[in-house]
Amino acid sequence: AVPAVKFSQAGAPLAIGHRGVPVRAPENTLASIDEAADLGITWVENDVQRTKDGALIVMHDTTLERTTDARRRYPGRAPWKIADFTLAEIQKLDAGSWYDRRFTGERVPTLRRYLQRVDHNRQKLLLEVKAPELYPGIERQLAAELRRAGWLNARHVRSSLVVQSFSAPSLKAFHRVRADVKTGFLGAPKPSELRSYAAFADQVNPNHKRVTAAYVRAVHAVRGAHGRPLEVSAWTVDNGDRAVALARMGVDGIISNAPQVIEEALEEG
Ligand code: G3P
Ligand code: CA
Repeated sequence: AVPAVKFSQAGAPLAIGHRGVPVRAPENTLASIDEAADLGITWVENDVQRTKDGALIVMHDTTLERTTDARRRYPGRAPWKIADFTLAEIQKLDAGSWYDRRFTGERVPTLRRYLQRVDHNRQKLLLEVKAPELYPGIERQLAAELRRAGWLNARHVRSSLVVQSFSAPSLKAFHRVRADVKTGFLGAPKPSELRSYAAFADQVNPNHKRVTAAYVRAVHAVRGAHGRPLEVSAWTVDNGDRAVALARMGVDGIISNAPQVIEEALEEG
């Protein structure tokens, strides 16, 4: 079946919360997606990686240091790579107090818990497979985890999930395992290369600095892996005027640390 996920509604691009709403709550935590839900933001973006003992967790950096208290709790284990720590060790970390005392005790979410919360909040997910070269086989594992969590049923596949990556080989691998799930390539391939990406992707999601009206037209002119025009979501845009300019260029989504600011700007736009 052809997924019906369509980012742009009634012509206006969708504002997607980058790692949740990190201007209001610590990135990639449950608190951050709850904040998005409170603001009426439906789509959130996250980053998925793997622990030493094979658990999928939600974190952006490949090391624990910036967004947890790993340095204090595990001195002597620099550089605190996620892949060197077990899930039990990571779950002892505080992923909130670095951001603000109000979030003390926030944990690094497992992908399973994160998916449950997105569902509970009736939100949708732009899921990034982060640094897949560090985690061989993560694509197949991700598909299995999504299935166990109930995220590969018709409803989720049709309207709630896009898997994205900077790695074309990783996206291809995921597409081989689950061709029904929409995927997005993070980057800005040359127009002449778009067709080769369209074999395994439904979106091309570039840094907003690379976006022009001509580029958006070129991307939209190519049909993606599910037979619909390739979509474009630009990142990471926190300025309302820039969001309006991108909307005029025709982008389908705008990934933002302050999605509520972007929504307001687009409404006034
Ligand atoms: O979703 C786009 C954006 O998240 C890619 O960059 O480094 O924030 O994962 P990064
Ligand atoms: Ca990301």
